[in-house]
Amino acid sequence: MSEIVTFTIDGRRISAEAGQTILAAAQACGIYIPRLCHKDGLTPVGGCRVCTVRVNGRPASACTQPVAAGIVVDNDTEELRSWRRQIVEMLFVEGNHFCMFCEKSGNCELQALAYRFGITAPRYPYLWPKRDVDASHPDIILDRNRCIMCGRCERTSRDLDGKSVFGFVERGIHKTLAVNADARLADTDLDLTDQAVNACPVGAILKKRTAYRTPVGQRQFDREPIGTSVETRAKLTIDGGEPR
Ligand code: SF4
Ligand code: FES
Repeated sequence: MSEIVTFTIDGRRISAEAGQTILAAAQACGIYIPRLCHKDGLTPVGGCRVCTVRVNGRPASACTQPVAAGIVVDNDTEELRSWRRQIVEMLFVEGNHFCMFCEKSGNCELQALAYRFGITAPRYPYLWPKRDVDASHPDIILDRNRCIMCGRCERTSRDLDGKSVFGFVERGIHKTLAVNADARLADTDLDLTDQAVNACPVGAILKKRTAYRTPVGQRQFDREPIGTSVETRAKLTIDGGEPR
């Protein structure tokens, strides 16, 4: 049987299995920690920093930091909300995101986090990078304008599909998502049934001929804000006890 440790998040006492990440332990208790590069089932990499919390006063990514007995975690503070807001705003301006024309609108985690954080317009200047769209694949479209470099497709293709279709090239502002073919997505062995096709939090990887099957207004985050499923469906154990 695994060891159980107890620690606090925002003053609430939480029990978790030793080795669990703070994000997973919080989620199991009904506490949502925002995340973008992390997806349940994938190895966390701590890339986007949206899940940043303070652990005993020090910033740490909740998706990679394991729990430990007695740690004091701050998650829902104005400072952390402000940091997360800034990261989301920067992601908006460093890509080309036009939510009103995007098929992912309403299902997009970046857009949903912007709503959760009350972002109406970024405070930073748009960079308008020149990026390409790869529509060569018969079933899947790759629009790099919307890519936030989270790496979820890369890890899913490598670790769950066993294919390594995606990877990154270049660095810094020039970093871009590449495919394991000379140029085109069509020349990879990516298949519509691959889990990587469903891994993208934004509208950078989309299935062709499926657009607007679910009307705008009836999509996942149109129905409930991001994080609601964690906050309302999990049991919250407080001070040894009662689910809320
Ligand atoms: S295509 Fe999507 S899943 Fe892949 S790195 Fe870009 S945003 Fe992330
Ligand atoms: S979700 Fe933890 S760093 Fe991205």
